[in-house]
Amino acid sequence: MQQSILILGACGQIGTELTLALRERYGNENVIASDIREGSDSLMNSGPFEILDATSYDAVEEIVMHYEVSEVYLMAAMLSATAEKFPERAWNLNMNSLFNVLNLAKEKKIDKIFWPSSIAVFGKNTPKENTPQHTLMEPSTVYGISKQTGERWCAYYNAKYDVDVRSVRYPGLISWKTQPGGGTTDYAVEIYLQALEEGTYNCFLKEDTALPMMFMDDAIRAAIELMESAGEKLSIRSSYNLGAMSFTPGEIAGSIKKQLPEFSISYEPDFRQAIADSWPSSIDDSQARKDWGWHPEFDLERTSAEMLKQLRTLN
Ligand code: SER
Repeated sequence: MQQSILILGACGQIGTELTLALRERYGNENVIASDIREGSDSLMNSGPFEILDATSYDAVEEIVMHYEVSEVYLMAAMLSATAEKFPERAWNLNMNSLFNVLNLAKEKKIDKIFWPSSIAVFGKNTPKENTPQHTLMEPSTVYGISKQTGERWCAYYNAKYDVDVRSVRYPGLISWKTQPGGGTTDYAVEIYLQALEEGTYNCFLKEDTALPMMFMDDAIRAAIELMESAGEKLSIRSSYNLGAMSFTPGEIAGSIKKQLPEFSISYEPDFRQAIADSWPSSIDDSQARKDWGWHPEFDLERTSAEMLKQLRTLN
């Protein structure tokens, strides 16, 4: 029987592109998108969609049973900046949704889970450059605490109940189809939109704040390649470090200026600066490369060229 895949949080920044990519790969009817709200036309019109609250075990179980779902991609989460404003809601959403899918797998109602973790699991005492897979982790944000805890539960369910859960620690993700919402790395998407619309951008991080980043095409390919890897190759069942590029607001502005010479940037750091300061500047992803052949394709120049090209066609 053809496998059936459920995406929770399908209307978000990652979920939208992931759903479309999975539909192209596995067939529209076999990929069920779900979210608590409706999404883009291309997502809503290309295959099954269900309004679904990922924090309700009964509701998720019902959809899993109805569609005979075998794999779940859990993309519903509250990101770092918003989570600082609503700590309890963030904890409830980020943890309850994860427990729901882990328990469905424990009960053998689904076979496989993809759940994204984040560079937010690291803290200010973590080595900042080339942050290793195994290192000191003392997250200081609500979001980071939820992702770090989630990682421990994933490893636990894998070890104790043989749950096949797979995860990567995503860096900041840059995309043009759907915008991010409530993250600290969102500036790296806003800057392209504002460059085209206004010719100027006021950045909420300092000019020299380096963070790990990735273009969405790489992020989607990473999820699918990890899910399609042979399970016995995977030595990490908490979450894999995943890298692609690293840059500062000053550097991304420089790469935009090569194409839009008039573009100007100013800096007005807010509360998100402290969050960024607690995160790594670059990531050592050698374990992912070794175990399942991870290899990024987009650097900053290629990302800028693609972002400006695609956003221009939208406007
Ligand atoms: N992009 C996320 C954020 O900024 C990090 O995982 O919250």
